[in-house]
Amino acid sequence: MSRQRHPLDPLFMPRSIAVIGASRHPGKIGYTIVRNLLESGYKGRVYPVNPSAKEILGLKAYPSVLDIPDEVDMAVIAVPVGLVNRVAREAGEKGVKVLVVITAGFSEVGNKEAEEELVRIARQYGMRVLGPNIFGIAYTPIGMNATFGPSRIREGNIAFITQSGALGIALMGWTAMNELGMSAVVSVGNMADIDVVELSEWLADDPHTRVIAIYLEGLKPGTGKRFMERMREVTRKKPVIVIKAGRTRRGAAAVASHTGSLAGADTLYSAAFKQSGILRANTVEEMFDWARAFATQPLPRGRNTVIITNGGGVGVLATDAAETHGVPLLQPDEDLVARFRRVMPWFGSPKNPVDLSGQAGVDNYVGALRVAYESDKVDNIIVLYCQTAVLDPIDLAKAITDVAEEYRDKQKPLLVAMVGGIETFEAMKILNRKNIPAYPSPERAVSSLAAMLRYTWYREKTTRGTRTD
Ligand code: ACO
Repeated sequence: MSRQRHPLDPLFMPRSIAVIGASRHPGKIGYTIVRNLLESGYKGRVYPVNPSAKEILGLKAYPSVLDIPDEVDMAVIAVPVGLVNRVAREAGEKGVKVLVVITAGFSEVGNKEAEEELVRIARQYGMRVLGPNIFGIAYTPIGMNATFGPSRIREGNIAFITQSGALGIALMGWTAMNELGMSAVVSVGNMADIDVVELSEWLADDPHTRVIAIYLEGLKPGTGKRFMERMREVTRKKPVIVIKAGRTRRGAAAVASHTGSLAGADTLYSAAFKQSGILRANTVEEMFDWARAFATQPLPRGRNTVIITNGGGVGVLATDAAETHGVPLLQPDEDLVARFRRVMPWFGSPKNPVDLSGQAGVDNYVGALRVAYESDKVDNIIVLYCQTAVLDPIDLAKAITDVAEEYRDKQKPLLVAMVGGIETFEAMKILNRKNIPAYPSPERAVSSLAAMLRYTWYREKTTRGTRTD
C-alpha cells in the first residue's frame, strides 16, 4: 500500500500475530481465533501463546509472548480478565505494537480500574489497544480474520465498525449470505483507546474501502466536538453511514448497561451527523442497502433519474419513494420519449417511469437501458422488475449485467429492484455478485439512490463545486 505509515497500520496489516490465550479446545474463543486466522488465508505469521500447550492447530505454541523468536506486530488477547494486564505488560516488553483485547469484564461491568490500567500499560510501551470487550478484527485485503465470528467473509469494499459484538458477529454471516462484500469488520467494544474516529480515518485512506458503515451506541463524554471535526474530514473522502442505537429513552438506558457509553440526546447526535456529512440510517437493513450502492456504483454526476419497469404498480411505488426521498425524476423531452417508445410494445408508456408493460421481454429492457445510458439527460437509472411468466428473472439479470458492463464508461449509477418468488432472489444474487445493487423492493432501491444523492450533494457543497468522484 503506497501511503505513509499510520499508527493503525499494525492493526489492519500486521506482519505477525500472537494469540495470547490460544486454546487447545475446539469451541473456545482462543481456539476459534487461531482457526479463523489459518482458514482465512492470512499470509503473516501466527503464534499461539499458551503456557500449557505444545502446539495448537498444528502451530508451535509458546508459554509467553516473550518466548516468540520473532517480532510480533499484533497480540490478540483472549485470557480471563484477571490475566489480561499481566500478558499486556509482557506484550509491551516484547515490542508488540497493537493489542486486540477480546476479553470482557472491564468498564462495561464497572471494572474501570482494570481498563485504565490496561491503557496505562499500553501507553507506557507505546502500544495501541482495540477493545476490550470485542470479537476482534478482520481485514479481507490481506485475508486476516482475527475474530471468533464466522470464518468466511465475502471480500469487497464495505468497512463495518461495530460497537456491538454479538450484532457484529451476526452480521458477518448475514453480509456473506446477502452477497455484501466487506473490506473490514472491526469490533470496538469499550473503545478504551482506539475509537470509531481513528478507525474511520484509517479506512478513509484505504484503497480497498469505498464506504464505511458504523453501528454506534454512543460516544465517550466530551468527545463530541472531536468526533464532528474529524468525521467531517473522513466524509470528504468517503461516505459514512451510521446506525445510532439508543434513540429512545429506554434504548438509551439499555446502551448504558451494554457498553457503558453515553447515548445522549438523540437530536444532538442527529445534528452532529448532519454537520459532519454522515448519513444516518434507521435500520441495519437500510445501512447495508445504502452501503451496497456506494460500494458498487459510481457517485451520481447529476440528479435526473429514470425508472424503467415492467409493472405500473411498482413504478408508482418507486415514484412515491422518489418524491419522499427527494430523488428528482427526469421529465423526458420529446426526443427521449420517442426513443423509449421505439423499444417497447405499443401499449407501454414512454414517460418516466418508463413502463415496458407486463409483456416486456429481455429485448425491451435491454433497449430501454441502452436509451437511458446513451442519453446525456439521464444521470441515474433504476430498473424495476415484477416476476412474470414471459420474462425469466435470471435471463433479465444476465442481460442487465451485460449492458451495464458495455456502458461502464458512462459512470451512471444503476440500481435494480426485483419483486417476485424464489427465482428473483437467485437473479438478485447474480446481480449483486456482478456489483449491480439489487433489492427486493422498489422503495429500497430508491432509498439507496437517495442516500447517494444526499452524500454527493453534501460533498459538492463542502468542496465548493470541485468534482470529487
Ligand atoms: N497466557 C496465555 N494463555 C493462557 C494463560 C496465559 N498466561 N493462562 C491461561 N491460558 C490459556 C488457558 O489454558 C486456555 O487454554 P486451554 O483451553 O488450552 O487450556 C486459554 O488460555 C483460555 O483461557 P480460559 O481460562 O480457558 O478462558 P476462557 O476461554 O474460558 O475465557 C475469554 C477467556 C474468552 C477471554 C473470557 O474471559 C471472556 O472474556 N469472554 C467474553 C468474550 C466476549 O464476549 N467479548 C466481547 C464481545 S463479543 C460478543 O459480545 C459476542
